Amino acid sequence: MARQSDQDSPDHLFSDDDLAEGLIELIAARRSISPKWLGQPAPAVHDIERMIAAAVTAPDHDGLRPWRFVAITGAAREKLGDVFAEAKKCRSPGGDPSDVERERERGSHAPATIAVIACPERDNIKVPVRDQYVSLGAALQNILLCCHAMGYGAKTLSGAKVNDPHNCKALGVKPDEELICFVCVGTAKAPPKRRPRPDASDHLTLWTGESVEN
Ligand SMILES: Cc1cc2nc3c(=O)[nH]c(=O)nc-3n(C[C@H](O)[C@H](O)[C@H](O)COP(=O)(O)O)c2cc1C
Repeated sequence: MARQSDQDSPDHLFSDDDLAEGLIELIAARRSISPKWLGQPAPAVHDIERMIAAAVTAPDHDGLRPWRFVAITGAAREKLGDVFAEAKKCRSPGGDPSDVERERERGSHAPATIAVIACPERDNIKVPVRDQYVSLGAALQNILLCCHAMGYGAKTLSGAKVNDPHNCKALGVKPDEELICFVCVGTAKAPPKRRPRPDASDHLTLWTGESVEN
């Protein structure tokens, strides 16, 4: 049921219980889908732009925008696979060639991939670096929620790949930046089952003003 906004409240603060319930349900129903369960259609570039438009609204202390995104779609996925394969060879010289091929497939297994890059201002005296990573996490969650709302499946992956200088160089990650993770996006091959979620009461304390014993 929609509530009338206060006369003085700006329109954008208009409160709507249905909207809140819908949003909470959307958040609760989101679940990660592994790239092996993702197929075509891939999100169009326009869809990815909408996801990033949501990402950049993340809460951001002092507007530093300490994050950026690189999208890999279409034929570029094969090239990403080549980069991953080369990086794997450098990481494990003389390793099993099938591991290299598996790594190559990981470049193109998702219909689309979004690399999430942190660009923290480490010497900022006002904004601690941890605030900047929290902002990145919020941007990441906005992407995942958009994927879900738009009918796409997605999963965030990191692993050894994100720390590999060969991968970072190929994706244009600068020396003062960090490749944090990849978001794999596509269409779920099967309807995902709902995932059991933690009980909120296990993660919430209502502080009474009394000091709390740990
Ligand atoms: C930054 C980041 C990196 C992650 N890296 C991996 C990973 O390399 N492998 C993995 O299995 N899950 C990884 N995860 C966890 C999954 O993306 C996912 O959140 C988890 O499986 C829980 O599923 P849910 O999103 O449905 O709750 C990562 C999550 C985050 C936030």
